[in-house]
Amino acid sequence: MDKQRLVQTAQALVAEKKGILAADESSGTIKRRFDSINVESTEESRRNYREILFRTAGIADFVSGVILFDETIRQDGADGTPMVKVLSNQGIIPGIKVDKGTVPLPSATDELVTEGLDGLRDRLKEYAELGAGFTKWRAVISIADDTPTAYGLSANAHALARFAAMSQEAGLVPIVEPEILRDGGHSIDRCFEVTEEVLREVFDQLAQQKVLLEGMLLKPSMVISGGSADQRAEPEEVAEKTIDCFKRVLPASVPGVVFLSGGEPDGSVTANLNALNQRAPEVDAPWQLSFSFGRSLQGAPLAAWAGKSENTEAAALAFYTRARLTSAARQGTYVPED
Ligand code: 13P
Repeated sequence: MDKQRLVQTAQALVAEKKGILAADESSGTIKRRFDSINVESTEESRRNYREILFRTAGIADFVSGVILFDETIRQDGADGTPMVKVLSNQGIIPGIKVDKGTVPLPSATDELVTEGLDGLRDRLKEYAELGAGFTKWRAVISIADDTPTAYGLSANAHALARFAAMSQEAGLVPIVEPEILRDGGHSIDRCFEVTEEVLREVFDQLAQQKVLLEGMLLKPSMVISGGSADQRAEPEEVAEKTIDCFKRVLPASVPGVVFLSGGEPDGSVTANLNALNQRAPEVDAPWQLSFSFGRSLQGAPLAAWAGKSENTEAAALAFYTRARLTSAARQGTYVPED
């Protein structure tokens, strides 16, 4: 394992002002996104849309890496330049989602487990050859009266750690994503409790499986109120509880946290990230607190594009604007727009 290279890549992904664009929607997810703007999802339309994002001028000031789906890492842009090259020409590190999605966890009620470990070692080798510098694996945990269970957490944490260990073996920085869904009416305190349990289990498994903490990134949800909670916590409380929770369970040797946006409205996800970065220096948080957003960076450009080539400039501008504001929040200097 080339430890030094892993550490350098992990640090580059959370370089000052920068974070990650998650553009790794699976075929089903991108179809849902395209359905929302009445655009047919074809290999060409997916390429056209993603190429707008990747070619946006100046975007590397805010974006260090992009997570790709298997189709995209093998795809060429309209002029024949490989998409991976389009990114590396901008100084952006290409990454790859390597999990194969979720299935019901056997003998459990309403819990999922992520698949994709079979054959992973060979796939990782190929992705490294195709130019990837990092990988992502997403586990999904939902909060309800009876979930998550210890069984569900241990099955998911075990798979996350297997993925992380194999990625590092292949020279790729793993982004370990235990996503706690925002769905439900739970309180922020219940989210705190579940987040603590999840991260405790994940870091226990990462330690057992000898994952180099300095050469990985954590992609968690923020500690927030459920999406349909009567009273949703304000950004200051989100920042306080997220950092307090992480201080209990997240080792200081992990260089960075790259939050997912999780379907939160753009305004609140950006305000929450900003509050986190305003609080971090006051309480000596040891990790970079950055982003790996899908929806919160792509909602605006997707709507501006609407599947029409004449909207390319408007879509690129919308993406640039969201990335600029998100980068400001990553530095704690975000001022909400009028
Ligand atoms: P969202 O920011 O839309 O939650 O997507 C991030 C992601 O990569 C989920 O796996």
